[in-house]
Amino acid sequence: MILVPPQPVLSPQTIAAIFLVVTIDDGGEDVVRALLADITGLQRSVGSRVPAGEATCVVGIGSDAWDRLFDGPRPAKLHSFVAVNGEKHSAPSTPGDLLFHLRAQQTDLVFEMATRIMGALDGFVTVVDEVHGFKYFEMRDLLGFVDGTENPTGDDAAVAVRVGDEDAAFAGGSYVVVQKYLHDMAAWNSLSTEAQERVIGRSKLDNIEMADEKKPPNSHIALNVIEDENGRQLQIVRDNMPFGSVGTKEFGTYFIGYSATPTVIERMLDNMYLGNPVGNHDRILDFSTAVTGTLFFVPTAESLDAPGRPQSLDCPEPEASLEDSLGIGSLTTSVDKGVLIS
Ligand code: HEM
Repeated sequence: MILVPPQPVLSPQTIAAIFLVVTIDDGGEDVVRALLADITGLQRSVGSRVPAGEATCVVGIGSDAWDRLFDGPRPAKLHSFVAVNGEKHSAPSTPGDLLFHLRAQQTDLVFEMATRIMGALDGFVTVVDEVHGFKYFEMRDLLGFVDGTENPTGDDAAVAVRVGDEDAAFAGGSYVVVQKYLHDMAAWNSLSTEAQERVIGRSKLDNIEMADEKKPPNSHIALNVIEDENGRQLQIVRDNMPFGSVGTKEFGTYFIGYSATPTVIERMLDNMYLGNPVGNHDRILDFSTAVTGTLFFVPTAESLDAPGRPQSLDCPEPEASLEDSLGIGSLTTSVDKGVLIS
């Protein structure tokens, strides 16, 4: 039995987040590998300045980047995000080698982590998307609905997000999909509250799910509650964040979904975009447009320098160390609970 500490995928919802998606420049691989080996230390170092701030960093690695960074085995289901083209709406697939999902209860902590990460990677990566998210009144999105209510918790959440024995070399890791959505707020605000509730499938003020017989089949909830062949609900863990800019009138939701297999999220996206039955697309898409879409694998915290290799055995040292430049020590502990694999 080996104790494999995951990255802090299941950290609690926070009021601040930064989503950083970067591509790795040619020749940047060594520096990226060194940062990956030190990322847990960076998180601890910044987080220790405000212990109550719950600062966490999750790093995901894209499919093309995987082969550039590591020569060992690959996570079985890692592939680039597959665009979904429905009759009316499309989810594009956009570039991204690394995702940094930075969360904290204070903006300064996420900003500090992002600054240090980019300080270490400066000149070796290109930022393709950077979104600063915030929580909006009672954990609502900018559409005014509470977002995150039906997330699984406890053991259910761990089962939903963690790879198990089906891919033993990567057990304890997770897949993650991100999409940046822009809202047409004028069109949304022209709807009555009752019409908005029929789009989501829940009441707006008190956040109660509509009864099945009242819930429209094209509501967001109706299309995202999916089951396996035995009738068990298939769940993911989401930590969406609103973001916006009043000057450019850009208002959106940054969708982030963690899962033990990308297949679950892909089924949800098919339901939303192609429709279920085909043509019955998610009404939320008439007001929200995806402008990015990327898929990453999140290795366990301890395996970030050599994912897929036997844990706690002869893991090679990273080729370069950023400890000095980051001003942090070599750290191996995780803020999250470990999982046992045999
Ligand atoms: C539920 C908003 C995109 C999957 C919800 C809820 C809201 C919401 C308000 C109800 C409360 C809750 O349980 O969290 C949004 C917005 C999106 C978005 C504003 C982007 C514009 C997505 C995407 C997926 C997704 C892309 C999947 C690929 C789910 C799931 C639920 C949910 C699984 C819970 C269903 C249940 O068990 O009741 N979303 N969502 N959402 N959403 Fe989304």
